[in-house]
Amino acid sequence: MTNPILACPLCRAPLAPFENSLVCEAKHCFDRAKQGYWNLLSVQQKKSLDPGDNPQMVQARSQFLDLDHYLPLVEAVQTILQRELQGLQSAQVLDMGCGEGYYTHQWQRHLSQHQFIGLDISKHAIKAATRRSRQISWLVASGANMPVADHSLDVLSVLFSRLMPEPFAKVLKDDALLILVWPTQDHLLQLKQAMYQQIKPSNYDPVAELSPLFSVISQQTLAFDFSLDQPEHLQTLLLMTPHGQRINAEIKASLMNQLPIKLGFSVNIGCFKKCADSE
Ligand SMILES: C[S@@+](CC[C@H](N)C(=O)[O-])C[C@H]1O[C@@H](n2cnc3c(N)ncnc32)[C@H](O)[C@@H]1O
Ligand SMILES: [Zn+2]
Repeated sequence: MTNPILACPLCRAPLAPFENSLVCEAKHCFDRAKQGYWNLLSVQQKKSLDPGDNPQMVQARSQFLDLDHYLPLVEAVQTILQRELQGLQSAQVLDMGCGEGYYTHQWQRHLSQHQFIGLDISKHAIKAATRRSRQISWLVASGANMPVADHSLDVLSVLFSRLMPEPFAKVLKDDALLILVWPTQDHLLQLKQAMYQQIKPSNYDPVAELSPLFSVISQQTLAFDFSLDQPEHLQTLLLMTPHGQRINAEIKASLMNQLPIKLGFSVNIGCFKKCADSE
């Protein structure tokens, strides 16, 4: 399956399928990986040899998400998607920083008349994502230079990933929706309290950072408790975040001793629209 809206990451001309590759008019050529994803990350765009989440983080995230503790987040975003896509025949939805594709896949299953694209800078994450579904166009690419045509997306979702206002505005249609999910101060607070003497307040303010390109049209907090009773499950949750990967043995042992442990999930879900003259 080739997506007609794909654009060359080097010159931004449309990409057309040619045998097992995608080619632009300037003859930039990208091969399809045997797992079925497209690698559209040019060497020039890579700040490191192997950018994004590493294999251990990807595997841990997959194992943890498959426990379905975060299903309420799947459902909350799905409700927003359903509302936004109502009446559209086949909309283009891109999940930027999709990781190993848990959320993208769940939404695509329920909204299968639409075209879903999962994009991540980590090759390991996208390889894992291809195992979830072949109905989604999986792309290894940078969110800073998304290889899709300008003004081509109906929805862009960004869950726990980087905020890049200009690139986001460029690829969205004028009336399109940006769905952003970011943690509140209370997200997994119990883990942070165990790991740090002092928890620094975050000054992350996406509403301010997205202004003046985007304005917020709605914002809600989704919070609930979930419980982990097995050491492997707590281990995967720790391993899927950079903080957890650095945790020392003593703190980890003390957390393991607290099993079963009740943890608080808490995120903000913001819906944004482009402002006029946003480019
Ligand atoms: C915390 S993970 C979230 C993954 C997924 N959205 C989820 O919630 O399960 C952040 C993801 O953003 C990706 N990422 C980081 N920088 C990126 C960039 N510049 N462009 C695209 N993806 C990026 C990472 O590789 C990682 O998979
Ligand atoms: Zn090109």
